[in-house]
Amino acid sequence: MIKELKRLQKEALTKLENLKSPSEIEKIRLEYLGRKGKLTNILKRLSYLPQEERPKIGRLANAIKDKFIDELDQRLKEFKDTSVEEKIDITLPGIPPNVGTKHLITKTIEEICEIFISLGFNVVEGPEIETEFYNFEALNIPLEHPSRDAFDTFYISKGKLLRSHTSPVQIRVMEKEKPPIAVVVPGKVYRPDAVDATHSFMFHQVEGLVIDKEVTFSDLKGTLSLFVERLFGKDIKVRFRPHFFPFTEPSADLDISCIICKGKGCRVCSNTGWLEVLGSGMVDPEVFKAVKYDYNKFSGFAFGVGVERIAMLKYGIDDIRLFFENDLRFLKQFPI
Ligand code: PHE
Repeated sequence: MIKELKRLQKEALTKLENLKSPSEIEKIRLEYLGRKGKLTNILKRLSYLPQEERPKIGRLANAIKDKFIDELDQRLKEFKDTSVEEKIDITLPGIPPNVGTKHLITKTIEEICEIFISLGFNVVEGPEIETEFYNFEALNIPLEHPSRDAFDTFYISKGKLLRSHTSPVQIRVMEKEKPPIAVVVPGKVYRPDAVDATHSFMFHQVEGLVIDKEVTFSDLKGTLSLFVERLFGKDIKVRFRPHFFPFTEPSADLDISCIICKGKGCRVCSNTGWLEVLGSGMVDPEVFKAVKYDYNKFSGFAFGVGVERIAMLKYGIDDIRLFFENDLRFLKQFPI
């Protein structure tokens, strides 16, 4: 029996050494230790041995069994260490996917539009490639008008150019719709400006247009004052400063009290205490003529907000180029 045991041990260990997959381990375990396993059978036969031999052979049989079990575990462990699937620790926290955020300009456009949406405005968009008619003529900026200079830019082909403001969408909306109209128009615009801390050849505007019967300058003032209050808070003062735009009459620039120095005078407001944030005015009768509206029947106001400027003031950013350089160190500071 001792011989038989030793032979079995040798046989089992050789099999263990040569196996190739963890599933074979289980097969070998059953072959020797299962209910009808080879080793199990011998252990069962121990009780038939004479009394004197039993302890010695019993000890040997149990030692062989223990060694075999140790050996099985060892092989199983080796397989775990080398197989990739077994190495994954499902209790570890996962690697978070890199989720992007909205760009600060997108966020600012949404903030601006939401204020006007709450006042009953609709949001519309227009093309970035415009015709001279929509960008200039229909807005009462004829060919020789001096105010074309600041705008005249980026021609694509004859009569087509990248729009220099969002105001052409005023015309497109009036051609398509009948009053009452209340829309805001976010979008990109292009100018022949040299790039510096406050200028860029491309930036964003939100245009506004309201047309109805009996719209007055008070409506313009009330609407834009409320807009500034919602955007910057109640402590900010506003003032309307006379200005000129060919497509509005009268026209006004809207200034807010400097949010950095609270109106005392600082570098940001060039010591004036005031910051210009948008251009506005009552729609010029010449514009109504261009879209064949009866200017005795309808009146309206329009405005154009510079989005980068608002974002710079609101979030304390001192260089417009930061918006367009795609530097994640900057962009990540404004998670949504
Ligand atoms: N389009 C003007 C600009 O780009 C802004 C403006 C819009 C002024 C509407 C008055 C009315 O400077």
